This record gives sequence, C-alpha cells and structure tokens, in this order.
Amino acid sequence: MSTTEDPALYFDCHVFCCTNVRPEGHPRGSCARKGSVALRDYMKDKAKQMGLKGIRINAAGCLDRCELGPTMVIYPDGIWYRFASESDVDEILQTHIQNKGRVLRLMMKPEDCPAKAKT
Ligand code: FES
Repeated sequence: MSTTEDPALYFDCHVFCCTNVRPEGHPRGSCARKGSVALRDYMKDKAKQMGLKGIRINAAGCLDRCELGPTMVIYPDGIWYRFASESDVDEILQTHIQNKGRVLRLMMKPEDCPAKAKT
C-alpha cells in the first residue's frame, strides 16, 4: 500500500538475495548451502556489466522460504524467485529488471511455502 505522501522510491528496483547459512543437515536447509552467496555476487557484477541503473542487489538474511531456495525477492514489485544458476540470474536481470517482465518458470507463488501452512 502506498499513499500520496510517500517519498519517491530511493531505488527503482531493490533485490534481496537470501545468503543465510545454517549448519549442515538442518531440516530446513539454507540458501547459502545451495550456492546463493556466489550467485548474489554474480548478480551484482552482471547488473553492473549490463549498465543497469537504479538497482540495488543486497544480501539478506533468511527470507523464510528456505526449502525452496536459493530465494530472492524484488521490490517494489514484491515478486519472489528461486535462482539456482547463473543462467537463472541472467534471465531475471534481463527479463524482470531490464525489460520489466516476469520469469514465470522461476516465480514463487504465495502457496509455495512448505514450512508454513497458509490459512
Ligand atoms: S535460508 Fe534462505 S530463505 Fe531461509
């Protein structure tokens, strides 16, 4: 929800990539153990290479969708993606951020959350 009193967005696009790490064998797993730290670094470098402006790509703590990870969420759209490879990251940067589209094959839905039953 936004109001007319809200200031303009500071970043046009703000990406949060989970880089949380849990001990080996934790029942929920963690994004860092699935490669998210290197993929987030790759995403930052690639966004720079592509010359994308108004974008910030931050490392985040646990986003609470661990089983589906590595996970990221992009604001202000509020779109969640699973990213498991550099080619996934490339597609998200090109299709979502550069062309303002959606990468449907990687998008998570609200019901995609095995740890928490939605009521
Ligand atoms: S460890 Fe990444 S969402 Fe929880």
